Amino acid sequence: MKPEEIERMRDEALAAFAAAGDLDALQAAKVAHTGGTSPLALANREIGALPPQAKAEAGKRIGQARGAVSKALAARQTELEAERDARVLVEEAVDVTLPYDRVPAGARHPLTTMMERVADVFVSMGYEIAEGPEVEAEWFNFDALNFVPDHPARQTQDTFFVQGTREDGKPTVDDESGIVLRTHTSPVQARALLSRELPVYIVCPGRVYRTDELDATHTPVFHQIELLAIDEGLTMSDLKGTLDHMVQALFGADMKTRLRPNYFPFTEPSAEMDMLCYVCRGESVGNEERPCRTCSSEGWIELGGCGMVNPRVLTACGVDPEKYSGFAFGFGIERMLMFRHNVEDMRDMVEGDVRFTRPFGMEI
Ligand code: DAH
Repeated sequence: MKPEEIERMRDEALAAFAAAGDLDALQAAKVAHTGGTSPLALANREIGALPPQAKAEAGKRIGQARGAVSKALAARQTELEAERDARVLVEEAVDVTLPYDRVPAGARHPLTTMMERVADVFVSMGYEIAEGPEVEAEWFNFDALNFVPDHPARQTQDTFFVQGTREDGKPTVDDESGIVLRTHTSPVQARALLSRELPVYIVCPGRVYRTDELDATHTPVFHQIELLAIDEGLTMSDLKGTLDHMVQALFGADMKTRLRPNYFPFTEPSAEMDMLCYVCRGESVGNEERPCRTCSSEGWIELGGCGMVNPRVLTACGVDPEKYSGFAFGFGIERMLMFRHNVEDMRDMVEGDVRFTRPFGMEI
């Protein structure tokens, strides 16, 4: 075990560490030069077999060589770790100035935003939002609203029955009302009158159901918004003013509505409400040079139904019709979205294709 040999082993180890370009290579060099079968370790093991006078000398040399090797290893380890950390910082840096919306955020459906926009008009006037169940007692959907037992709207060709009634109009389960998917939001009127203190000023947005086939102008599940105002001294002019305010808030300051006589069991008198065509503002009427597709040159667009709440409804809901009166209206949101945004096919609204909803933007 010559001193030059020990030096050579040491120098080879130091050279190997210096040559290691990364931590993996250094780990391999470490095993080769400091592991149990490395030349220095083997040499160390041979010390015991040396004659006593050579032992101390060899022990010292090998000890010094091993000390120098482990120092060099630690130094190179620190160096390579620092290099790796610096590289990782560069390679894995996050550029916080990159556009953040590579995964576009979702948006609410245009029907939802339309419905809330209408509701907001009334909330800002002090109305409250009222809701009712979509699976509704037949009593609320029809009876409380003064539909006679054999009214055609109750038939299964219009109404989804969850629990039916007999031919004679009596419920199939004794002493219980039939149960339907509500065909309109009007039953919320009766629920509100029975559960709230007077006066009542509410708007009821919601989903309703009818046994229609899905086509360009019908869908079995659609949305309505209902309004009910019950107070002392309300008259039809309050109804008219409220309708005018709504269409002005939604379609512009020069809008107006008109009422045409109609019949609904729960209002008396009842009317169909039209709004001025918001595209031609009525100017296409009789003007062949400027026809209007939106209103078919009629000048008006039909919005929905309205009227003064029938005293029979008030009585059914425990309200004194001698003291209180009020008005109500209801209309479909799908139809409003169709003419407000020129949607030609109602199926687009239910199919969930983002190519339809995207142009409506990200309104929240
Ligand atoms: N519920 C009616 C329907 O679905 C619409 C309606 C008409 C609602 C007159 C009203 C009203 O509140 O007063 O066709």
